[in-house]
Amino acid sequence: MSFFENTRKPVGLGGKIMVAMMNVGHSAVARWGLQFLELAPDAKVLDCGCGGGANMKRLLKKCPQGIVKGIDYSPVSVEKSKKVNEAAIAEGRCAVLRASVAELPFKSEQFDAVTAFETVYFWPDLPQCFREVYLVLKPAGTFLICNESNGDSDKDEKWTEIIGGMTIYKDIELKAYLEQAGFYEVQIHKKKSWLCITARK
Ligand SMILES: C[S@@+](CC[C@H](N)C(=O)[O-])C[C@H]1O[C@@H](n2cnc3c(N)ncnc32)[C@H](O)[C@@H]1O
Repeated sequence: MSFFENTRKPVGLGGKIMVAMMNVGHSAVARWGLQFLELAPDAKVLDCGCGGGANMKRLLKKCPQGIVKGIDYSPVSVEKSKKVNEAAIAEGRCAVLRASVAELPFKSEQFDAVTAFETVYFWPDLPQCFREVYLVLKPAGTFLICNESNGDSDKDEKWTEIIGGMTIYKDIELKAYLEQAGFYEVQIHKKKSWLCITARK
């Protein structure tokens, strides 16, 4: 297994190194993407595929009276996210669960926003996963997708060759899947090779 397979599902020591690297390496694209997410100070947010938890920490800052939950199917990611957000967990403002986006362990209409940073590349059956996100969002809630690779660059092929099970979607493909799941007001933002999409329930 190549070290980069740990981006799809971090495992073992390589996975621990990868989640620490991603917390730093994804910082610029995540900060850029987060500016497109409007949140009330007491918002309830879910971060899907939370990896090392750095974006959960940013979300907690963005909604200082709110609650941020994270899910990831990798135990390595869950452990790191818990460590990074231990103070907020102790305050009762944060929780991290091991779960797949294909079957979210939440009741419907719970969250004001759901985020997905650098992770939809790996989701199985994207329309089904987007429907799961749709279900857990409150009416008028926002789904934000933020990717470092927008499918327009020659470099994209390099990544999909190195990392099995990775698909780099173009903006119009994601927009179509989102609308198929019931989302509307799909807004597309691009900078360099980055892509950020927001959609409303
Ligand atoms: C490239 S990492 C990105 C982590 C973090 N969001 C960030 O931006 O640094 C992708 C993460 O998504 C998780 N992931 C991939 N597919 C998933 C799925 N179907 N359900 C839950 N987590 C998933 C992986 O375990 C991994 O932690």
